[in-house]
Amino acid sequence: MIRVRVPATSANMGPGFDTLGIALNLYSRLEIEETDGGLDIITVNNSGNVQNDKTNLVYRAMDRVFRETGYRPKGLRIKQDSAIPMTRGLGSSSACIIGGMLAANALSGRTISYPDILELATEMEGHPDNAAPALYGGFCVSVKSGDRVYVKSIKLKNDLKFAVMIPDFFVATKKSRGALPDKVSLKDAAFNISRASMLQAALTTGDYDLLKIGAEDRLHQPYRKSYIDGFDEIFEHTYRTGSKATYLSGSGPTIMSILTGNGAAFKKDMEAFFSENEHKWKCMLLECDNVGSVLSETRS
Ligand code: HSE
Repeated sequence: MIRVRVPATSANMGPGFDTLGIALNLYSRLEIEETDGGLDIITVNNSGNVQNDKTNLVYRAMDRVFRETGYRPKGLRIKQDSAIPMTRGLGSSSACIIGGMLAANALSGRTISYPDILELATEMEGHPDNAAPALYGGFCVSVKSGDRVYVKSIKLKNDLKFAVMIPDFFVATKKSRGALPDKVSLKDAAFNISRASMLQAALTTGDYDLLKIGAEDRLHQPYRKSYIDGFDEIFEHTYRTGSKATYLSGSGPTIMSILTGNGAAFKKDMEAFFSENEHKWKCMLLECDNVGSVLSETRS
């Protein structure tokens, strides 16, 4: 039996479009066994429709690795128990892909390296900013250059809370990317380079008062916010309530605030703020996961 635990992730972090991401202590857990034949998929605790045939994302990720390694299991039983809400901007797809790939690699005798797993995952997702922290944990800077993906995973101090605010509707990444322009101005590009660099400096030096300016973005949030009712009001309220930095998590619709302290007062205040909102926003307090994916194997 192969067990894999993969963390949720929050990509972009404001200005770091397709580049920055962080792993969070909310998990997808897979239990995978080779069987004598057929495909048996059991999904528990999911917050959306999960396919139980060969179109299942965990299965597709496994198949991608088997095509690489040449290993062919007779049959497979895949059990997934995921606490990561689907299509909300918290890396649920990456968790399926990385989890499936690590499990398939273990069944194949671990012939593929982690950097190669990340490249295969990036090929499936199109961008590495969720897959990298899902695999390595921490705060990740990822760069895709040609076929290679370069990653630096930076382990953060345990003094920040990540308040994840999740509405009851979803926005598919494909649709949300479709809202983005093909070209941006030099001014906006320079704006984002400066903010992304400052965000990294603030997170790694602990100068958290600089996070707010470091989380500003002009490349994607201004185009995506129309999918989220009351986006500007929510952002403003998080800052009134003590957020150090607020950004759209991945392609949304989840909104993330970074906090110092235990976050309890922030959560209470945001829940009161959302109590009038028709979209039943939930606020969860998470922490950075510095570990990344964990795999264990028991031989029967
Ligand atoms: N960087 C990707 C995007 C993340 O913004 O579309 C998707 O979760």
